[in-house]
Amino acid sequence: MAETTDQPRVSMDEITALAKRRGFIFPSSDIYGGIGGFYDYGPLGAMLKRNVKDAWWREMVEKRDDVVPFDSSIIMHPKVWKASGHIDAFHDRMVDCKVCKHRFRADHLRNAEQCPDCGSKNSFTDARNFNLMLQTFVGPMEDSAAVAYLRPETAQGIFVNFKNIYQTARKRPPFGVAQIGKAFRNEITPGNFTFRLREFEQAELEYFVPDDGNDLAAFDGWVKARRQWYSDYGIKTDRLRFYELKEDERPHYAKAGVDVEYLFPWGWGELESIAHRGTYDLDAHMKLSGKDLRYFDESQKAHYTPLLIESSAGMDRTTLVMLVDAYERERSTDPNGKETERIVLRFHPKIAPLQAAVFSLARNKPDLVELARGIERDLRAVFRTQYDEGNIGQLYRRQDEIGTPFCITVDYDTLDDRSVTVRQRDSMKQERIAIDGLRNYLNDRL
Ligand code: GAP
Repeated sequence: MAETTDQPRVSMDEITALAKRRGFIFPSSDIYGGIGGFYDYGPLGAMLKRNVKDAWWREMVEKRDDVVPFDSSIIMHPKVWKASGHIDAFHDRMVDCKVCKHRFRADHLRNAEQCPDCGSKNSFTDARNFNLMLQTFVGPMEDSAAVAYLRPETAQGIFVNFKNIYQTARKRPPFGVAQIGKAFRNEITPGNFTFRLREFEQAELEYFVPDDGNDLAAFDGWVKARRQWYSDYGIKTDRLRFYELKEDERPHYAKAGVDVEYLFPWGWGELESIAHRGTYDLDAHMKLSGKDLRYFDESQKAHYTPLLIESSAGMDRTTLVMLVDAYERERSTDPNGKETERIVLRFHPKIAPLQAAVFSLARNKPDLVELARGIERDLRAVFRTQYDEGNIGQLYRRQDEIGTPFCITVDYDTLDDRSVTVRQRDSMKQERIAIDGLRNYLNDRL
């Protein structure tokens, strides 16, 4: 489904450089040269990703009475992965270059004759399967009986607990179980910054419905809800598409499937998959475990296996989309006719790492500094804020680059009129606001 754009608005190099310069995302273990497929989130990145996860959690769990939260362990009984099909079938086709020994995913080479790394011709081995699960050992013995896997998706923890959950939460289908957590895949070729990682976070919703003829309507309802989510949190709709999978693109048991894709600088990439998985997952665990996971319908005095609708979104990919989508290089002419340029991240205010920055115009004026710090402390109780001081132009530039919607400056007039200058990130408009009115001013706009 790869498609390229003629002229991306922003390059991945620009995004990677900004992410490092401002402390959003760093390569993991950077001082030792990094490790492929792993990244660390710096102070602003950690806040950004936290806001993305909170936004998902708020809309998908907290605001609904038909979804319950869950949090399962990363390592589970290896039979979980046997039943789910991951041990037998979760692999990519892989080839090696016989000359430089580099490894590639066969589907990424697309019939290329030459090695993309060393340029050798016809140097590839035959393709073979490569299982993507990361292995470890549990307990003191490092033998085959102790092999365990780091989960490649969070969903299975929900399936094996289905009965525990519906009984204790006293829920009957239709209802959903949601979880956000780490997943691990030993990707052959991680890349595109944090798009394809070996350690990443998923936000998964498993929605169980009765087989009463309303399942496809429930599927459509979730597609609609997810479309709404992206739009509510500011993702441009023309850079997002909901690709409906055709029958031959879906697993045999899936009645419907939609991939949510974003137009990244390198082309369309999947952010989330929404799938109607029938009874496949619960059936598989009932078969291997011999345990009955069916729902008991008290009114009918009968057991049945509910159908499953899954929405599975990558939180690292969504965070990356927030960065890419918000990025703008803006040129304008200042009042003196001089051409200026700024980089601005136009985050949605709920997603922005910081919501307001408070500045003292002068570093060496204790009364200004004290007043500005006091204002920041007061706002901090309600908003995500930061105090800073120094050259106002540089301070604005920094806050634009990290996407802070409002900058509040305490200047010499403030001491007399108890007002501050509030500057809006997007319009750069400035207005004088009384200190006492700041909380309300921000509340109305955030
Ligand atoms: N339980 C269903 C499931 O795991 P998936 O399409 O394999 O479905 C869902 O994964 C989402 O998880 C993807 O759309 C993507 O956002 C994220 N994801 C998968 N592999 C990833 C990787 N290697 N790096 C970052 N995110 C990944």
